[in-house]
Amino acid sequence: MRSKIVAGNWKMNLTFEKADELLYQIGEQLEKGVPQDVELIVCPPSVYLELATDFAQEVEFKVGSQNVSQYSKGAYTGEISAEMLSSIDVDYCIVGHSERRKYFKETSKELSLKVEQLLEYGIQPIFCVGELLEERESGKHFDVLKSQLSEGLFNLSESEFSNIVVAYEPVWAIGTGKTASPEQAQEVHAFLRGLITEKYGKELADETTILYGGSCNAQNAKELFAQNDVDGGLIGGASLKPIDFIEIAKSF
Ligand code: PGA
Repeated sequence: MRSKIVAGNWKMNLTFEKADELLYQIGEQLEKGVPQDVELIVCPPSVYLELATDFAQEVEFKVGSQNVSQYSKGAYTGEISAEMLSSIDVDYCIVGHSERRKYFKETSKELSLKVEQLLEYGIQPIFCVGELLEERESGKHFDVLKSQLSEGLFNLSESEFSNIVVAYEPVWAIGTGKTASPEQAQEVHAFLRGLITEKYGKELADETTILYGGSCNAQNAKELFAQNDVDGGLIGGASLKPIDFIEIAKSF
C-alpha cells in the first residue's frame, strides 16, 4: 500500500546509552503529535534493535534493520538472518544502501537474495537505488537506476513486489549537505514508478511507496514531499536529532 513514510537510518552511530536516550526523546516528541497517516520507522544498529522493538510496544513507530544476511541460517559467522529479525518483531530492513554497495561490495545478486529472505519472514525491504555523481554528470543515471531496480527486484512476483518500499538515494547527496532539488527528485521518482508500471502494471506502481534520501532535513523536506511521486524520506544525519526527525515527519 502506498504510504507516507519517514525512516531514520542511524547508520553506525551511538552507544547503547545514547541510543536509549534517542529512542526516549523520539517518544517524547511523538507525544506532541505527528499526523496519524505518517508511518515513522527507526533503523538503529542491529545491537539496539530489540531495545527499539521494546520501545515500539509503547510508542507509535516501526523498527527497521540496516542489513540482513542473504543466507537463512547456519555457519555464517557474524551474520544476522531474516528469521532472527522477525523473531524480535522487526518490521522493515534497508537493502542495497549505497554504503553497503560501496564498502561491502554487495552485488545485485546478493541484494535480491536478501530481499527474498526478508519476504519469506514477512519483513518489508526498503530497497535503495541511486547514482554516483559522475554517472549523473555523464547522463547515465537513468540506465544505472534501471539496472539497480530491475536486477534487485524484478524477479519478484506481483504479490511479493507489493511489499517493497523503494528509496531513491543519489549517492552525491548522501551525507554531503547537497540535496537533490525537488524537480530532480520528482523526475527520478516518476521514472522509477514508470519502470514499475512497465513491469507490474499501473495499479501496483501507483501503490508503491517511493522515498527520497540524501541530505533530507527539516528545512527541505516539505518541498521534496510535496512532489507527486515522493512519498517520504529515508533520513540519515537528521534522524539522530529527535526534534528534526519529527519535524520531517510533519512535513507532508
Ligand atoms: P543523509 O543520509 O540524510 O545523512 O544524507 C541518508 C541515507 O544514507 O540514508
